[in-house]
Amino acid sequence: MLATYLSDNKQRFLDELLDLIRIPSVSADAKFTADVRRAAEFVRDRLADAGLDNAEVIDTAGHPIVFAEKMIDPAKPTVLVYGHYDVQPADPYELWYTPPFEPTIRNERIYARGACDDKGQFYMHIKALEAMLATNSLPCNVKVMIEGEEEVGSEHLGTFVAANRDKLAADVILISDTSIISNDVPSLETGLRGLSYVEVEVTGPNRDLHSGVYGGGVANPANVLCQLIASLKDEQGRITIPGFYDNVADLTDAERAELAKAPFDLDEYKRDLGIGDVMGEAGYSTNERTSIRPTLDVNGIWGGYTGPGAKTVLPSKASAKISMRLVPNQTPDEITALFKAHFEAIAPKSVHVTVTPHHGGLPYVTPTDSVEFEAASRAFEQAWGKKPIPTRGGGSIPIVALFEQELGIKTILMGFGLDSDALHSPNESYGLFNFYKGIETIPYFYANYAEMKQ
Ligand code: BES
Ligand code: MN
Ligand code: MN
Repeated sequence: MLATYLSDNKQRFLDELLDLIRIPSVSADAKFTADVRRAAEFVRDRLADAGLDNAEVIDTAGHPIVFAEKMIDPAKPTVLVYGHYDVQPADPYELWYTPPFEPTIRNERIYARGACDDKGQFYMHIKALEAMLATNSLPCNVKVMIEGEEEVGSEHLGTFVAANRDKLAADVILISDTSIISNDVPSLETGLRGLSYVEVEVTGPNRDLHSGVYGGGVANPANVLCQLIASLKDEQGRITIPGFYDNVADLTDAERAELAKAPFDLDEYKRDLGIGDVMGEAGYSTNERTSIRPTLDVNGIWGGYTGPGAKTVLPSKASAKISMRLVPNQTPDEITALFKAHFEAIAPKSVHVTVTPHHGGLPYVTPTDSVEFEAASRAFEQAWGKKPIPTRGGGSIPIVALFEQELGIKTILMGFGLDSDALHSPNESYGLFNFYKGIETIPYFYANYAEMKQ
C-alpha cells in the first residue's frame, strides 16, 4: 500500500535529501563546478534506485542535465517532471545561524541552501515515484529532467530541449518550484513572471579623484547613477521608461476580484519582513504588485570606496545590477532594448553609460480549465482536505515558456514551498510538513491525471 510505504520509509527519504543538500551545487560560482556534477550524479543514482530506467547524466556546454524515465505503456499519457539541482550562492555566510551546506533541523524545518529551492521540492517527486513504482501504482509514463543551471538562467537547457524533442515528448510538465499561500491555505500557481536583467556602468573621470580637490566640479558617477536609477520610477511607483507598459496585459475586474479572494494578512506580512510599511505601484494591492504587475529593482549597486573607515575619493565608475520582472505580453528582448535606449538617453554628457544585458525569460500563464489543472487541484483536495486557491506567482522559471514554445507542452506549477522559506536568502528552510505532504500529494496527481486523460 502506498500510504504504508510512505510512512515506513519516511526517515530514509529525509536522510537522502539531507545528503543531496550537503553537496554545494552552486551553479553561479566556478569554484563549485565539481560539486555541481557530484549533485547531478547523486540525483541520477537516486532516480535509478527509485526504479526509473535509463537514468543518465547528460553533459552540456555548461552544467549537466539529469534524465530518467519509466515508460509503462505507450498508449498512456506521459508526465515530464522538471526541477533543478543547482542552488543560489549562500553568501553572506555570516548571517546563517548554521552553515548553509550542513542541513540542520530546527522547529520541524530543514535549514540549508537549496532546502526548498529546489532540492527539497524536486526530491519529493523522486520519492513519490519510488513509492508508486514499489507499490505498482504508477498509472502512466513518466520522464524526469533535473537541470543544473536554473539559477543562472538555464542557458544550455534551451539548446538541449530544442535538440531532444522526441526524448522529452510528453503530455504535461509537472514542476514543484513555487509556493503555496500557507500550510493551511494550499494554492496552485497559474503564472510566473518573466525577467529582463541588465547591468549598468556609469563612468566619469578617467581615474578616481580626490573628493576635495575635484568634488563639486566633476560629475560623480555614483551620484549620477543614483539619480538615473531614482528617475526610473515616478511618485506613483510607475516605471518611467517610455513604452514599458505598452504590452502589459491588464486583467479584467473579474480576474482581479478572483485573485483578491486569496487571503492576505498585511500586518503579518510586514511583521515577517520587519518593515514599517509596504510600497509599490499606486492602484494595486501587494499581491498584485508582486504577481500581475511588472517591476524594476536594483539587485546590487557598487562604486567607490566601501572598505573600513573613510577614504575621501570621487570614484571613476559606479555600477548596478537591475532586474525587471515581466508580465504577459512583455518580452525580455523588447524590455531590455527599451531600458537600454532610455538609460543611454537620460545620461548627462558628463558621464558615459553602458548597459549590458544578462539573462532573461518570458512570463508564463497556465490555463485553469484543463484536465491537467483539474488533476492537480483534486490532488490537493485529496491530500490537504481543501481546494487549492489559484494564484499568480511573482518569481520566474524562464524555461517554462520555452517548454511551451519548443515542445508545445503546458506546465502545472505544483509547488509546496512558502514565500517565507527565505529562498535565495540566508537561513533558507523547508518545512518537514511540506516535504512529506508534497510526497503524499504527487501520487494523487498521477492517479487523477491518468484517469481523467483517458
Ligand atoms: N524557484 C524559483 C522561482 C520561484 C520562486 C517562482 C518562488 C515562484 C515562487 C527559481 O529557482 C528562481 O529563483 N528563479 C529565478 C530565475 C532567474 C535566475 C532566471 C528568479 O525568479 O529570480
Ligand atoms: Mn527554483
Ligand atoms: Mn531560485
